[in-house]
Amino acid sequence: MTDDPAVPDDGRSAPRQLGPIDSATSARANRAWWDAETTDYHAEHGDFLGAGAPGGDFVWCPENLRESDAHLLGDVRGKTVLEIGCGSAPCSRWLAVQGADVVATDLSRRMLGYGLAAMALFDETPVPLVQATAEALPFADATFDIAFSSFGAVPFVADSGRVMAEAARVLVPGGRWVFSINHPMRWMFPDDPGPDGLTVAIPYFNRTPYSEVDADGTVTYVEHHRTIGDRVREIRSAGLILDDIVEPEWPDDLERVWGQWSPLRGQYFPGTAIFCCRKPDS
Ligand SMILES: C[S@@+](CC[C@H](N)C(=O)[O-])C[C@H]1O[C@@H](n2cnc3c(N)ncnc32)[C@H](O)[C@@H]1O
Repeated sequence: MTDDPAVPDDGRSAPRQLGPIDSATSARANRAWWDAETTDYHAEHGDFLGAGAPGGDFVWCPENLRESDAHLLGDVRGKTVLEIGCGSAPCSRWLAVQGADVVATDLSRRMLGYGLAAMALFDETPVPLVQATAEALPFADATFDIAFSSFGAVPFVADSGRVMAEAARVLVPGGRWVFSINHPMRWMFPDDPGPDGLTVAIPYFNRTPYSEVDADGTVTYVEHHRTIGDRVREIRSAGLILDDIVEPEWPDDLERVWGQWSPLRGQYFPGTAIFCCRKPDS
């Protein structure tokens, strides 16, 4: 995030309070934003994500935690898996290679199009890609053994409690729901990978969404903040069990900067939280 209207100039005064931004506005703005960013996003991050590699890759976060090491989804062979907010679906393509029966969804047609092109290029058995918002998944109840999202929809939706409920609905009893997001404590700091990003500027408890607007005042990008407690309550309200919150540490040998994620900030505080949830057996 840059030019953040919620970040005060001097980093000390109270942040500007914006009005709430609803689901429809968030989805419209973010769909257009991700459509427009698809090419630049892949030019910058595609190699790291494995988006242009045969068979894709599964990276959970800028700290480079990979599913091949973390095994947060468990054994996926023969399992039905749903990805929510898949981007160009490198994670789902990787899971398909591991033997999972995967469907991937995203709001952005162009992000999905990039994934289709990659699968065609490498002559892969296509993973079905579905354009949908995470707040209304177009699948029947109890369809999937596993659902996951790697920095996908959850930070971008106005009603993340609705996403938790949708994930719970489409999972079979005993199914897993695992999602990675910006660590909620990052909200307090300016979106800067350098020393300026180490000083608290925004109240942790300020849930006013971050937004960008164009010259006409139309909202063009939105991120929504929830505290750790908010996340836990949304998960529990959906009838899910929270097994763990993984906070990946910055690896000593990782020099790569991704937006506000950097080796400097990684030394001091977490950048990612991965919520590992489960639907009760019955
Ligand atoms: C940071 S990308 C992450 C995707 C993928 N894991 C990656 O690393 O490329 C975020 C994705 O979330 C999608 N997204 C944003 N809002 C969404 C929503 N309401 N429903 C579904 N996907 C959404 C965007 O279109 C974008 O592709």
